Amino acid sequence: MNTSEFIAASSNKSIEKTSFTWQTPSNIALVKYWGKSNPQIPKNASISFTLNNCHTITTIEFEQKEKTEEVEFDLFFEGKQKDAFKPKIAAFFTRIKEYCPYIFEYKMTINSENSFPHSSGIASSASGLSAIAMCLMSLESELNTSLSKEYINKKASFLARLGSGSASRSIEGPLVVWGNHPEIEGSSDLFGVQFPYKVHSVFENYQDAILLVDKGEKQVSSTVGHNLMHNHPYAENRFLQANDNLSKISEILKNGDVKSFINLVESEALTLHAMMLTSNPYFILMKPNTLEIINSIWEYRNENNSNICFTLDAGANVHVLYPEAEKDAVNNFIENKLSKYCQKNQYICDTVGFGAKQL
Ligand code: DP6
Repeated sequence: MNTSEFIAASSNKSIEKTSFTWQTPSNIALVKYWGKSNPQIPKNASISFTLNNCHTITTIEFEQKEKTEEVEFDLFFEGKQKDAFKPKIAAFFTRIKEYCPYIFEYKMTINSENSFPHSSGIASSASGLSAIAMCLMSLESELNTSLSKEYINKKASFLARLGSGSASRSIEGPLVVWGNHPEIEGSSDLFGVQFPYKVHSVFENYQDAILLVDKGEKQVSSTVGHNLMHNHPYAENRFLQANDNLSKISEILKNGDVKSFINLVESEALTLHAMMLTSNPYFILMKPNTLEIINSIWEYRNENNSNICFTLDAGANVHVLYPEAEKDAVNNFIENKLSKYCQKNQYICDTVGFGAKQL
């Protein structure tokens, strides 16, 4: 695999002090990434909707220092020093150092905040790592002014992937594919690409209401989860199925067949959890209220001939997906019938978004 295009050219420009702020979104996978090999190479291609309201805002201040062997950084989350998050970020810097050697020449102060409630169970690694990647690319493009926007986004996604796989899908929008797939032109295991074909209008402005069923700490980290796909009895078939589902959803997104979209997306969510149920050690991340919500969605869909459906990530929360045309009706249904299954009745209404923004 050719990663040499991502090694930063050396620069003789000297910048003493600078800072950049980026807002980058979370994303929700429709075809799931679950299983990887080193270094952060997915076992199958995945596709996600980029979100709009769920995002991270990160500022990095860079201060020039003597070049040493160590990456020096301080980390603040919502205004407070957060040493607990440091090992994950330190591991990220170690993985990217050959591509961004300039990180040894700056002391970095990272200030980060999320738009969604802390420990809401919403994966913050995608938005968190993509924001850091964009700040690094802003520095890199000051050091080397010839970088194109296309290259900056591609390398940001490449770097973000090395921090957290799904973060590679949080640079652009509204639909991003990560993982090499024969039917998606330009797709790669190394970075995410915008879905390259014209999407049917029904999938524009799609809505995602995130029902916060369980806001507790994750029982199983995603890295542990991915590792359980090694020696998993169903792994190889699962990877084939995911790539096949990616071919199918690619057609569905183009032709606007919402009924097939619903079937595929819900099946992907349940299959992801089936992989957890059938791994060893096995685990259950759904809660009783997750199932209450799923059953209520099915009932509502049947009774109202609605196009509402659900997906799940590696947790108990439910993402309710629906076309914009059904927004008022579904929002009423969520408020009146589903919010009681959420912790403190909390849910977040989001829509599909367009990716990273510099502030
Ligand atoms: C279930 O991207 O969080 O949300 O690469 O280990 O950081 P790491 O994993 P992560 O896994 C996300 C898994 C998922 C499905 C998906 O987003 O595709």
